[in-house]
Amino acid sequence: MHENDLKFTGDMSAADFRKYGYAMVDWIANFFDTIEDRPVLPAIQPGDIRSKIPSSAPKLPEAFEKMIADIDRVIMPGMTHWNHPRYLAYFSSVGSAPGVLGELLAAALNINGMLWQSCPSSTELEQVTTAWMRQLLGLPDHFFGVIYDTGSVSTMHALAAAREQMADLQIREKGMTGRADLPRLRLYISEHTHSSIDKAALALGIGMEGIRRIPSDANFAMQPEALRTAIQEDRSTGWRPFCVVATIGTTSTTAVDPVAEIANICEREDLWLHVDAAYAGSAAILPEMQHHFAGWEKADSVLVNPHKWLFVPLDLSLMYTRKPGVLRRAFSLVPEYLRTAHDDNVVNFMDYGIPLGRRFRSIKLWFVLRYYGVDGLMARLRYHIQLAQNLAQKIDADSDFERVAPTHFSTVAFRACPAGWQDEDALNKLNARLLEAVNATRRFYLTHTKIGGKFVLRIAIGNIRTEARHIEDVWQLLRTMLRDVLKNVQNA
Ligand SMILES: Cc1ncc(COP(=O)(O)O)c(C=O)c1O
Repeated sequence: MHENDLKFTGDMSAADFRKYGYAMVDWIANFFDTIEDRPVLPAIQPGDIRSKIPSSAPKLPEAFEKMIADIDRVIMPGMTHWNHPRYLAYFSSVGSAPGVLGELLAAALNINGMLWQSCPSSTELEQVTTAWMRQLLGLPDHFFGVIYDTGSVSTMHALAAAREQMADLQIREKGMTGRADLPRLRLYISEHTHSSIDKAALALGIGMEGIRRIPSDANFAMQPEALRTAIQEDRSTGWRPFCVVATIGTTSTTAVDPVAEIANICEREDLWLHVDAAYAGSAAILPEMQHHFAGWEKADSVLVNPHKWLFVPLDLSLMYTRKPGVLRRAFSLVPEYLRTAHDDNVVNFMDYGIPLGRRFRSIKLWFVLRYYGVDGLMARLRYHIQLAQNLAQKIDADSDFERVAPTHFSTVAFRACPAGWQDEDALNKLNARLLEAVNATRRFYLTHTKIGGKFVLRIAIGNIRTEARHIEDVWQLLRTMLRDVLKNVQNA
């Protein structure tokens, strides 16, 4: 009989918490230690995991030992391991050890940082860590920082502020429906902007037709001249341009939009400029990478995701704006029960967004920044960039492969293109089969994109545990698998 079987009030005892807490930490330490021995991708079918779990919650308390055992029995077989050094898909998102411990503490403290008073430590640590990051990123001191859960949510808040900036439209007061006096709003993005920007536009009533995609150049960067022309065209046909989103490090190829030029256009046209640096933003802490970020200090809002390439576990997105008053105007709404005596002298972060409840997210960022130190973080990012550059050179030197975009940061976009393969359709099928073959080994996880009709493979390096030998392994595997796939094609 377990002690818990008889208890129907109160929480786990401190003694049990210690016991199971140590067991859980042991499990996690062992997981980190042995992660490389595990496949990156699971070998399962949809429904396999659910079938191992009862269809309703247990009526009586269960033993914690059994719960820990079920992590291995039930959960591990269905894991795509984002923390794995051979995970090279999408962009990485790494739960580093100090970040995991920060999450544990945040859960234990379990505050709600909606108001300064509802947890002064949370509010002030958020102010301090966002200021530390602002300095590291090289953004000016007047940028106000706020932590949201994801980049998508950061962008949604930035675009809401952009909409609110058009005070003459009185959207906060009158809404956007049933109004003959409201012009159609236009948002400018590039062909390679992340879908989260479209989603934010959907949520904010801009609509898909309100999004205008500006063509990109040969390096997949937005063409400022085309942007200028589009704005003029729209103004002359009754649209109301209000916002441009530029990206530093696009999702497919990590292209860099010419932010400085775009910022000048936005200034002249009185448009809000939002810079999405969700992935690449972390690289701004490196002086030698700062040139990619030229002009972002002129943006109205900037987003960087430490949960992508700064080793902070999901979720933590940083949003900076030089117009906090506009963001606040978009979202502040204070019912009586949330008023405090300090309101005039403090930041109440609930005023800067939709969520009222706010987790103590800054604590894991604080832990990561302190544990690795700025020099430690810089060294790790430099290592990833070096790994990507080395891989890019190997791809360039191999006549069976080609890169399809410049490698600005730590992500390489490439495809197989063996001699004699000219037909684009056939090349696309070949690359799709190659990707499938690599992932079928479950030793690596790569993902793809489509650029200009081409099926493109990506290797995104950003995991704190990834080393040169992993990248060499994936490269050799790609070459071997290509030979196999070609053999199969010839025999078919
Ligand atoms: C450039 C870019 N922006 C935004 C996002 C969305 O970030 P999140 O997953 O935090 O919402 C991504 C996701 O990969 C991205 O690549």
